[in-house]
Amino acid sequence: MQAWVIGNWKQNPATSHDVNALLDDLLTAIEATEQANSEVTARCQLMVAPSFIHLTAVSARLKGTSVLCAAQDISAHSASVGAYTGDCSAQQIADAGATWTILGHSERRQYHQESYDSLLQKVTHALMQDLGVVFCIGETQAQYDDQQTLEVIDSQLSVIKSLLAQQQELIDSLSTRLIIAYEPVWAIGTGKVPTVAEVSATHQHIKQSVAGVAESLSAITVLYGGSVNADNADIFAADAMIDGALVGGASLKAESFLAIATAFSKGSI
Ligand code: 13P
Repeated sequence: MQAWVIGNWKQNPATSHDVNALLDDLLTAIEATEQANSEVTARCQLMVAPSFIHLTAVSARLKGTSVLCAAQDISAHSASVGAYTGDCSAQQIADAGATWTILGHSERRQYHQESYDSLLQKVTHALMQDLGVVFCIGETQAQYDDQQTLEVIDSQLSVIKSLLAQQQELIDSLSTRLIIAYEPVWAIGTGKVPTVAEVSATHQHIKQSVAGVAESLSAITVLYGGSVNADNADIFAADAMIDGALVGGASLKAESFLAIATAFSKGSI
């Protein structure tokens, strides 16, 4: 099965100049990696998600390369153009050259109070614009300590389940246009990670849960995110339930991003 390694650049880098420097490094590192081992990008799909402001420039530079470009969010009010200050619609995102979007990241849930309703709107609009969706779920430290991980995940996954119940015609396209990213909130940017056994069991639960709605989704891609780096990627990549990684900090350096991709390309054999 093909692995996926996705770089969520969050509110980085600070300037267009720095974005170009990161892309220069990334494309040079990919070329060197492909020359050394052509299997890496064949076995592992790479994607990066820059800020809205950099989306057009980044997607233009990535055109014709093996790296896909995603947005980090879309507007819940994507049905039409109009008076939604500060928002970017799914159509605008697709027009800027992105083919995927991250949705429901815990930082959006935390700082922007993203609700079930707004996420249902966002996922629906993304798919209507033919954008693939990387749907993020994960528990907080308190929920982890209270052993509520699976309950929290089930509740967050209800967005996807409702969507499928309402719009059966989406099921076929979702098998290639939906990725679930399990990111425990307490592991993001902290250097703390769950054990591989914990991640594996949670991923198995996610896969079973999604397959319970539609059998065609039984092979859904489930990524792990939260403090993945060049040193620990191997152990996650070796587990059959972990199909790749959603990477924050370590995606801002081409070297560590490519090292993670190399680990998952080996894990996918
Ligand atoms: P870090 O890799 O920096 O922990 O961030 C993970 C993340 O939130 C990716 O979406």
